Amino acid sequence: MKAYRIHRLNGIDGIALDNLPSPEPGPGEVSIRVRAVSLNYRDLLVAKGVYSRNLPLPLIPTSDGAGEVIEVGSGVTRFRPGDRVAGCFFSGWADGPLTEVASKTAHGGAVDGMLVEEKVLPVEGVVKIPDHLSFEEAATLPCAGLTAWHALIESGGLKVGESVLIQGTGGVSLFALQLARLAGAKVIVTSSRDDKLQRACDLGASEGINYKTTPEWGEVVREKAEGIGVDHVVEVGGAGTLGQSLKAVKVGGHIALIGVLTGGGEVNPTPILMKNIRVQGIYVGSRAMFESMNRAIELHQLRPVVDRVFPFDDARGAYRHLESGAHFGKVVVQVG
Ligand SMILES: NC(=O)c1ccc[n+]([C@@H]2O[C@H](COP(=O)([O-])OP(=O)(O)OC[C@H]3O[C@@H](n4cnc5c(N)ncnc54)[C@H](OP(=O)(O)O)[C@@H]3O)[C@@H](O)[C@H]2O)c1
Repeated sequence: MKAYRIHRLNGIDGIALDNLPSPEPGPGEVSIRVRAVSLNYRDLLVAKGVYSRNLPLPLIPTSDGAGEVIEVGSGVTRFRPGDRVAGCFFSGWADGPLTEVASKTAHGGAVDGMLVEEKVLPVEGVVKIPDHLSFEEAATLPCAGLTAWHALIESGGLKVGESVLIQGTGGVSLFALQLARLAGAKVIVTSSRDDKLQRACDLGASEGINYKTTPEWGEVVREKAEGIGVDHVVEVGGAGTLGQSLKAVKVGGHIALIGVLTGGGEVNPTPILMKNIRVQGIYVGSRAMFESMNRAIELHQLRPVVDRVFPFDDARGAYRHLESGAHFGKVVVQVG
């Protein structure tokens, strides 16, 4: 079977297509024919060696894949051949709070990932996918979808009528937009491009702000949120955007700290205490959260926003498209 592997941490050129033997499921394991994989910004960081210089090379990249069960190992009763499933971002975080051990089971980082034709996973790291979704759509859920769900619903406790700020129109942010709208919240979105702001408004955002032409967008968000600021910020920018987010959030509000799109830098922490803000780090989510999210997605027939689907042979083209920043939503690779 074919598998992409990172041989050198020098960017997209360090990823090669290799031939590997098909893996066999052992006790408590499930063998999956991968049908689609989605890319995350993290996958670029991994390939470039920014995520970590100490990865086990060669490494099969990417965390997010969906497909069908080929075979189950002894003791597996939750799945049978033909089931439509996705792998979890962490194969070892089934439920409860994140532990140090579970944090070391992230696919496409600490352990081999999903950009491969056949994958064996421990059964506790596998979920059924909603019937109405294609494999390409379902492959967007394990990291981007679940991170947004964890941030707003599980940890944020989002309520009907509250307001949410999302930054940019990438994978996590558009899931946050869709989930916030499902939950009956008002959404304010920022983007580098006016056409993307329009598309986000078509998806249900009520206000859009171009962060290139309005670099001091924090005050503008505050004004648009009844003059007092938003209840929740889905912070994907990191150090370069947190200062504005602290202006945009209301007193007693919540910032879900998720991303590092702007890299490192210094942030003045004083507003966190002066405004009594809760800043909560989010690292994807557990299998139990994934299953809760899938119930909501199924009930509301939510469809993830897929920007473009690339063939398996052009997976590196998919990486380049993600790197360009031209995408709106998720970039997907079809497998097989
Ligand atoms: N903690 C976790 O568990 C977790 C999980 C998933 C992702 N993340 C992190 O979250 C971030 C987003 O990941 P992703 O996969 O959703 O990325 P993505 O799909 O590649 O989205 C990137 C988008 O972010 C926007 N952006 C870039 N710079 C920005 C800035 N300065 N201000 C506002 N928006 C900006 C751009 O949107 P426009 O084109 O509209 O400007 C860009 O298209 C990354 O840092 C990733 O590592 C963390």
